Amino acid sequence: MGKLIIRNARVIDPASGRDEIASIVVADGVIEHVGADTNSPHADVIDATGLVACPGFIDVHTHLREPGREDKETIASGTRAAAAGGFTTICAIPNTSPVIDSQTGLKFILSRAESDAVVNVIPYASVTRCQQGEEIVEFGDLVHYGARGFTDDGHPIMNAEIMRRALEYSAMFDVPILDHCEDIHLAGEGVVHEGFYSTKLGLKGIPPLAESVQVARDVELAAFTRGRLHIMHVSKRQSLPHIRRAKAEGVRVTAEVTPHHLTLTDAALESFDTNLKVNPPIGDAADRDALISALLDDTIDCIATDHAPHTDIEKDQPFVDAPYGMVGLETAFPVLYTSLVKSGLVPLRKLLEKMTIGPARVLGLEPRGSLAVGAPADIVLLNLSQEVQITPDFFFSKSFNSPWLGSTLTGAVIMTVVSGKLVYSHRQIIEK
Ligand code: DOR
Repeated sequence: MGKLIIRNARVIDPASGRDEIASIVVADGVIEHVGADTNSPHADVIDATGLVACPGFIDVHTHLREPGREDKETIASGTRAAAAGGFTTICAIPNTSPVIDSQTGLKFILSRAESDAVVNVIPYASVTRCQQGEEIVEFGDLVHYGARGFTDDGHPIMNAEIMRRALEYSAMFDVPILDHCEDIHLAGEGVVHEGFYSTKLGLKGIPPLAESVQVARDVELAAFTRGRLHIMHVSKRQSLPHIRRAKAEGVRVTAEVTPHHLTLTDAALESFDTNLKVNPPIGDAADRDALISALLDDTIDCIATDHAPHTDIEKDQPFVDAPYGMVGLETAFPVLYTSLVKSGLVPLRKLLEKMTIGPARVLGLEPRGSLAVGAPADIVLLNLSQEVQITPDFFFSKSFNSPWLGSTLTGAVIMTVVSGKLVYSHRQIIEK
């Protein structure tokens, strides 16, 4: 592989604090130099004048649906959506059909990623056999075959004894347990956040306690076991004090928040748009404000999309019957840039930190997530003033279940580079 020079970009590398007009030189798939411009006669050159260059985004929470629901997404389509969204590494949630709970499943994901993916795919395995919450998987075996984390996401682990043992294994093998916190008894038949709008709209509510009691339980179990706990899709302000306290006490806990929980409130449910039906449900304005504060004060370590593709046939049902989830890879940056940065709520550097080095640290992937010399050359180029129209055609994903359909946002992903190779440029995937 030859050289690539990205010239005249505004280079923002949150890991090092760099924010300046500079050039990035890539050689053999890794970062060779960032700084003053250099000349190299045989290099490919990208003139990035007017663009931001930063480390490629990392998503620790992506539903790729393969194997089992290839009508919604595949590793091929999901990684193309990732590239179009500026993501260079995504982590595959194992709630597929079958669930990834064995070395066979892991080998399938890794081999499909090898043949079909255009960005890096990191597999997780489930914590319990078939995600049934009863029998713990073969942790050591699965770590050996490439699992970088364990999660029953889509379902909570209701049995605290199982969670305790999972966290003990996580300490032993130094891998995180990624935790979907939801007490199913408290959640009951609820489909939206319990509050003013659930009452007004006549939809059954899920109380915030359904999330926060499990966060409280699991940080306590993490403290006791010294395991590595990652709280997924934190959505309610009541969960935050537990995470803050645990972090202050040195418990090994990290947390993520989704773009939708950071930018939407349950007031939007007045539309009855089933694309707003997600689990955990979107909270109220006080929840959204508290999540933004928690992002700013580092209680929350990273932004994760929870990209959850569903067909339009499934989403085109009465609210109570539609499945939970929305796609997120391609809208993440424009949504967050428009709602948080343009509005002055979050500095650009902070947003980029939470999409690059923040998630890299959660999984221990550094120097990925940075532009350090020697790091894999995973880079995204952004145009902060370009508008994007969110239409079904905007999506490389097989699904387009997005509440932003029909909106115009600001902040476009222009090019995505993975290990020094241009994989996406100006709305085109550059095929292998
Ligand atoms: O909204 C969601 N969709 N939340 C989950 O926990 C699972 C996910 C899915 O798999 O569709």
